Amino acid sequence: MCGIIGYTGTRRDEALSEVLLNGLSSLEYRGYDSAGVAIANATVSVYKSEGELSELEETLPATTLEGTAGIGHTRWSTHGPPSDTNAHPHTSCNGRVAVVHNGIVENDQELRDALEADGHEFESETDTEVIPHLIETALEQGDEPEAAFRRAISQLEGSYAVSAVVSGHDAVLATRNQSPLVLGVGDDGYFLASDVPAFLEYTDDVVYLEDGQFVSITPSGVEISDEQGDLVDMPVETVDWDIEDAGKSGYDHYMLKEINEQPHALRECLRGRPRELEGSIEIDELEGLERPAHVHFVACGTSYHAALYGARLFREQGIRTNTFLASEYDVDSIPVDETTLVVGVTQSGETADTLRALRAANRIGAETLSVTNVVGCSAARETDYVMYIRAGPEIGVAATKTFASQQVALAMLSRALTGASSSGFIEALRALPDQVQSILDTSHAAAVADEYVDADAYFFIGRGYNAPVALEGALKMKEITYKHAEGFPAGELKHGPLALVTDRTPVFAMLPGDSTAEKMLGNVREVESRGAPIVAVTDVPAQLGSHADHVLEIPDTHELFAPILSNIQLQLVSYWVANRLERSIDKPRNLAKSVTVE
Ligand code: F6R
Repeated sequence: MCGIIGYTGTRRDEALSEVLLNGLSSLEYRGYDSAGVAIANATVSVYKSEGELSELEETLPATTLEGTAGIGHTRWSTHGPPSDTNAHPHTSCNGRVAVVHNGIVENDQELRDALEADGHEFESETDTEVIPHLIETALEQGDEPEAAFRRAISQLEGSYAVSAVVSGHDAVLATRNQSPLVLGVGDDGYFLASDVPAFLEYTDDVVYLEDGQFVSITPSGVEISDEQGDLVDMPVETVDWDIEDAGKSGYDHYMLKEINEQPHALRECLRGRPRELEGSIEIDELEGLERPAHVHFVACGTSYHAALYGARLFREQGIRTNTFLASEYDVDSIPVDETTLVVGVTQSGETADTLRALRAANRIGAETLSVTNVVGCSAARETDYVMYIRAGPEIGVAATKTFASQQVALAMLSRALTGASSSGFIEALRALPDQVQSILDTSHAAAVADEYVDADAYFFIGRGYNAPVALEGALKMKEITYKHAEGFPAGELKHGPLALVTDRTPVFAMLPGDSTAEKMLGNVREVESRGAPIVAVTDVPAQLGSHADHVLEIPDTHELFAPILSNIQLQLVSYWVANRLERSIDKPRNLAKSVTVE
């Protein structure tokens, strides 16, 4: 996930570079690995730098940068680590064209090979750099800039919002396919951006562009056309967002925004993978990694819960598997050797406890793999293999979309490394983003939260694959509501925690219609008879009879994936309880997003 901006207009009170930098500062939540701007006059001037926007600002010339058309970018790395060279905008060989891009060009290697064979030289490791080279090729063949842009885009496969400027041309050109792009219509200029906040300071009149549409903005006007090149009329809508809240795209909190981003995050996680090969599945970036004899998972907090889920998937395929809280991973007392694969699950890739565990495993000679969200993070650099979960930046301290993406990544990993059959698995995996969307569209978690906002404590129970989600449900509830919450494998209740259950302690029970259903219902009866209200999270509401006070429904899915769907409902309940209690949801007290001390 990256942020892009484009502007052309006649503002006199502010230099073009300032308009672009202002826009980028509202888009930094989309990534902050590097930033850059390009300004087109008779030539195209490009300024870019690794790091946050402030680093770019320091490298800009003291004189403000004037021009008629400009583009900017803030990067969340996917292809190539954060660096000055990999920062956008990217340019063509002769420097006439500059391009910014959000998304993934899936056929970049093929395009790069063909361009290199024609004499093009590349500077970066990014997939984006092929685009300015394709535009340059079309310009050299005599195309006008708009036609050259269109011809270049027609060769891309993947997802993109792309914007380009060409020297000597006062237009900013743009298009989108499965990545966001909005047009801002101002009194003295036009804007293109990944998100409305980028230009909200200048205008609240917005056109929501559709996939396949092309836009050309110049100081004197805007043209929107469809894939065939026919002009289209799009409605201009006025947004009534408070500028303060704009980075949250209209949501009250980043956490709620990130919960709602989960369908997109899962699509990104699944993009181009897994590949099906003779009934089993492969993941390209793990080529060379064989079926391990023994797997150790090391992780903390929410990532530990994802690891518990992943470990069970490996165990089911006959692999000896252990899961450790990274802070407790002591290689002197735990048997680990070259036959062990040590998997660090860490969204930030910077958690000190997890890094320490991975370093110890490296020292002993075990193979190491990180499952992480941040390209170029310490965990990725220090392990033998890395699998990115591609959830995009997560700002809220409470992990939400990264947990779902970790679960999906680990599910793919368990199949790819064990050679298990892909039958029924891939279809169910691919259905998940839409199923998550349907939960988000229909959930009445807010009403359940209202009912139990004054509860003394909250308990979460589940069995098998759903036990880790019970733990995660409780962690989310306690960290953002500051209220007592506990999660248990349901069979454990009767061994102690049942003493805490009263009619003021709602019990959230994961009740999918799978092999755990009968025993789960037994556990539900245990708490029901102590007067506890029951909230069932289930895909089979009809089978619950009168055992639930409330039902939070999930769509029918593969037995392995019900926990991924159930967790969405639990996230929403915690969010709404915290919201009603007016907690500091995005920055809960005493907590930090990345814990870099042991
Ligand atoms: C809870 C949460 C934390 C993290 C933990 C590990 O919502 O976010 O429990 O999961 O601090 O962080 P990473 O995954 O970055 O290693």
